[in-house]
Amino acid sequence: IEVSIEDRIGHVTLNRPKVLNALNRGMIREIVTVFDEFDLRDDVKVIVLTGKGRAFAAGADIDEMADDDAIRMELLNQFKDWDRMNQIKKPVIGAVQGFALGGGFELALSCDLLFAAEDAKFGFPEINLGVMPGAGGTQRLTRLMGKTKALEWLWSGEMMSGKEALHYGVVNRLIAPELLLEETFQFARKVAAKPALSVRLIKEAVEKAEDYTLAEGMQFERKNFYLLFASEDQKEGMKAFQEKRKPSFKGR
Ligand code: CAA
Repeated sequence: IEVSIEDRIGHVTLNRPKVLNALNRGMIREIVTVFDEFDLRDDVKVIVLTGKGRAFAAGADIDEMADDDAIRMELLNQFKDWDRMNQIKKPVIGAVQGFALGGGFELALSCDLLFAAEDAKFGFPEINLGVMPGAGGTQRLTRLMGKTKALEWLWSGEMMSGKEALHYGVVNRLIAPELLLEETFQFARKVAAKPALSVRLIKEAVEKAEDYTLAEGMQFERKNFYLLFASEDQKEGMKAFQEKRKPSFKGR
C-alpha cells in the first residue's frame, strides 16, 4: 500500500496493480494498521481508500488461499484484521475505479461512503470458485438491497455496473473516472472541516441504526447529542451563530 497525509486527509492506496490489487493477508493487516494510526492522529480527520491501476481490488488473493484448509484458517483467525476495520471511528471514504470484486467489494462496503467511477464493476464471483464471501459480503449487501436482490447477485456471481450500484444504494456517487479522486478529496475536505466530535458521534449513532431497535437507537443518539454539549466546538458553534460569524472548530 501507499500512504500519505495531505490537507487533514489520510490517504491509503492499494498498490499491487499487476494482480489487480488482490488482497493478501499482509496487505489487509497493513491497511488496518495504518487506519488505526490515522484514527489516533490529530492531523487526520478523514480517511480515503483508493486503488492503483485498473482495479480497486479484484478480491482476496486466490493464490494465497488456493491450498488453504478450514482448520488452518480457523486457527489463523484470518478475518480478525477485517473486524478491526469496523472499529475505526473516523470517516472512511472509498473511491472505486475498475473492479471491486469479492474481498475487494467487501473492503469497499466496509467504507462509510463509496464514490465510484463510471467504469466501476462490483460483484461477488466467489461462487465461481466454489466458495462464498467471507468478509461480510452476504451481510452488507443484503442490508443495502434486501434479501432477494442480494441473493441474485451472490448466486449469479455477475458483475454490477456503476449505474446499477448507484441504483441499489451501494455507492453514493458515480463520477467520471478522471474526476474520481478530485471529487472524493473535495468531499473529504468538506467533512474534515466539520467539528470532528460531531462527525465521530454521528458515525457511531448511524452504525447503531443497523442493529438497535428504534427506541434503543433513539436513546443512543440522545446520549451522544448530550455528550456534544461537553465539547468546546458546541460552545464555539452556537456562539459563532449568535455573533453572526464563521465558527472556528478545534475538534475538542
Ligand atoms: N487473486 C490473485 N490474483 C488475481 C486476482 C485475485 N483475486 N484477480 C486477478 N489476479 C491476477 C491474475 O491472476 C493476473 O495475474 P497474471 O498476470 O500473473 O496472470 C492479473 O491479476 C490480471 O488479471 P487478469 O489477466 O485475469 O485480468 P482480466 O482483465 O482478464 O480479468 C478479472 C479481470 C475479471 C477481475 C479477473 O482477474 C478475475 O476474475 N479475478 C478474480 C476475481 C475473483 O474471483 N475474486 C474473488 C476472490 S475470492 C474472495 O475474495 C473471498 C473473500 O470473500 C474474502
